[in-house]
Amino acid sequence: MAYFIEFIDVHKAFDDHRVLDGVSFGVDRGETFAILGPSGVGKTVLLTHVVGLLKPDQGRIIVDGVDITNMRERGLADIRRKVQLVFQSGALFDSLSVWENIAFPLTESRYTDEEIEKRVAEKLRLVEVEDLAELMPSELSTGMKRAVAIARALAAEPQAILYDEPTTMVDPLMSQTINKLIRKMQRQLGLTQMVVTHDIANCAEKVADHVALLHQGKFVFNGTMDQLYGSDHPVVKEFVEEDRIRFEKERKPV
Ligand SMILES: Nc1ncnc2c1ncn2[C@@H]1O[C@H](COP(=O)(O)OP(=O)(O)O)[C@@H](O)[C@H]1O
Ligand SMILES: [Mg+2]
Repeated sequence: MAYFIEFIDVHKAFDDHRVLDGVSFGVDRGETFAILGPSGVGKTVLLTHVVGLLKPDQGRIIVDGVDITNMRERGLADIRRKVQLVFQSGALFDSLSVWENIAFPLTESRYTDEEIEKRVAEKLRLVEVEDLAELMPSELSTGMKRAVAIARALAAEPQAILYDEPTTMVDPLMSQTINKLIRKMQRQLGLTQMVVTHDIANCAEKVADHVALLHQGKFVFNGTMDQLYGSDHPVVKEFVEEDRIRFEKERKPV
């Protein structure tokens, strides 16, 4: 079966700084694929390529059977509806309430007010944030903003969601809530998902079917979580060990 998202030998440099140096992988329909790597390695750059916000210097990107590598904005708009990117910041509109933020993508479509009401309520319920509907983004914690951003992404009825560092800068309890939401999107809605994170124990381990580790522009690992923990590759072992130490430190009561 064809992949839902596929990268074939993707290269990307900014001036002479090579960020992606031949990245290839595939994400199956309905699976959650995590891309791991330390800060600054190129995870966000990779993720933004999936929806054509950046173009590769070389290589090809296929989404839902369509080669989007050289696609123009009009075609990309369709891809960006189908594949929703949830930014680390949540990127909510500060002057709109939670309800209005989720309704926003729908107001540009041909839905009636009644249909919009119904859809927003449904997304609020799915993401379990009904109580927040009337609040403004400034009244929300970072974690809550991310949950609302997921609800807004769902409003477009996507087939895939991409999450950039979903658990970064949120406390362990809220991380659990976000991880559960990501799992729920896969199980209940059958969505294809990509998660980029530097966090194994608090994130990738909880949500991913497959993981890959980005290092110096290439994947040094691509496999299951068990295979990651069992890997003999020195870069993988070091990354896993650093994660374990960080996880145990965070778990220590203060
Ligand atoms: N638009 C850009 N112009 C120049 N350099 C960029 C741009 N976007 C990202 N970079 C560089 O690419 C590298 C990878 O960035 P990024 O993907 O944000 O890392 P990560 O998300 O893994 O922390 C960084 O060195 C960053 O400075
Ligand atoms: Mg990033």
